[in-house]
Amino acid sequence: MATVLSVSGSPSATSRTARLLRHLDARLERHGHEVIPLDVRTLPAGALLGADFAHPAITRATALFARADGVVIGTPIYKAAYSGLLKSLLDLLPQYALEGKTVLPLATGGTTAHVLAIDYALRPVLNSMGAGHIVQGWFTLDKDLQTGPDGALTIAPGSAEALAQVVDRFSLALGGTPLLAAAG
Ligand SMILES: Cc1cc2nc3c(=O)[nH]c(=O)nc-3n(C[C@H](O)[C@H](O)[C@H](O)COP(=O)(O)O)c2cc1C
Repeated sequence: MATVLSVSGSPSATSRTARLLRHLDARLERHGHEVIPLDVRTLPAGALLGADFAHPAITRATALFARADGVVIGTPIYKAAYSGLLKSLLDLLPQYALEGKTVLPLATGGTTAHVLAIDYALRPVLNSMGAGHIVQGWFTLDKDLQTGPDGALTIAPGSAEALAQVVDRFSLALGGTPLLAAAG
């Protein structure tokens, strides 16, 4: 099936966005896809901030984008837009790094006032990078994402259902196997 790169753009060590992506990665795997997780915060800050295009970690990340058929881009909303950390990586990728790829944009945020940030802020950047097909994205309120003492993520029921739907549509766009209803 398809190869999916699942990119979290949160700088936080206890990121809800990253936990959410890792949770959704498992669903994509159940659809039959190979999923490669990438947390931008694990890349060297000096390379990101110093525009070190040739740094091995950056060239490795660039190669992961090149290899992927689909890309999940997850970001916390900071100051009404995507995170600066995410942008610092996108700026180091080739102009058309998303050419021909199917992209699922996801965001987490603290207020519904910024629910459209995916569309007014992130989507134009993804378009400018040549994304072939940007499927419907989803904004999840941070209060709907709770982490237990064991690190397990619990998603509020309404959000869980909406996220499952956008992931399933993304998978379908990538030619994934439909999940059995019972396996939900
Ligand atoms: C510096 C900063 C700025 C933020 N700005 C916004 C904002 O403008 N709009 C919003 O909805 N949430 C905002 N938030 C809340 C975060 O988007 C939200 O808590 C998110 O789920 C954090 O994700 P993370 O745990 O993956 O970093 C902000 C949080 C921080 C730390």
